Amino acid sequence: MLNVLLFGPPGSGKGTQSKKIIQHYDLQHLSTGDIFRKEISEQTPLGRVAQHYIDKGELVPDDVVISMIEEVINNNPKAKGFVFDGFPRTVQQAKALEQMLQRKKQSICIMIVLKVEKEELIKRLLNRSKIEGRKDDDSHIIQNRIKVYEEQTSPVIDFYIKEAKAFIINGIQTEDEVFKDICLHIDKFSKCK
Ligand code: AP5
Ligand code: MG
Repeated sequence: MLNVLLFGPPGSGKGTQSKKIIQHYDLQHLSTGDIFRKEISEQTPLGRVAQHYIDKGELVPDDVVISMIEEVINNNPKAKGFVFDGFPRTVQQAKALEQMLQRKKQSICIMIVLKVEKEELIKRLLNRSKIEGRKDDDSHIIQNRIKVYEEQTSPVIDFYIKEAKAFIINGIQTEDEVFKDICLHIDKFSKCK
């Protein structure tokens, strides 16, 4: 199993690079944000809970996210590995993921952190709002999403640095250059169990 954790602030390129990684390594994409947006569009009970938080740029509560992830992993027993995009977003979620994978005799092989400065993040997300119309790509909500990332999400990096699994990549390059850097790191972990 090749489990890759793709990490970074809002707008750093997680979704963009996930698509390339899953294609190149034949993995399953697991984006909590994408799952929530689908649930919201289908107006499910989970979607209604998630919308309340996403519209403010706040995190959906850990217990909701963790049980949802467990279901996705259990429903994909044939996956050769996952690219986790936007999860874990708190240390609590990281601990829960470790336990979940341990029960399946798996682990996170590598964490890739996309490093992009705040000004560039804001520029990208405001630009995307004109193209995709994502409701949380509004300038006030973007500010809060970045704040929440810095305060609640970035501590997850230390969790994986302690396990010597975290690698920081310059996310301000062309998409192909970023992908090349990611592959250089993932290739070293391709035999990970
Ligand atoms: P989520 O959907 O995960 O959003 P996010 O983390 O804010 O990140 P984005 O999807 O906005 O950006 P990205 O890093 O994927 O960048 P992208 O490739 O699109 O989460 C949304 C919300 O859901 C959260 O705020 C929270 O409320 C909730 N949520 C989700 N997961 C949760 C969890 N685990 N726990 C609790 N709550 C959770 O790129 C952005 C733009 O930049 C695009 O237009 C792209 O074309 C462009 N771009 C990409 N790469 C480059 C490049 N190299 N150069 C120039 N432009 C580029
Ligand atoms: Mg995304």
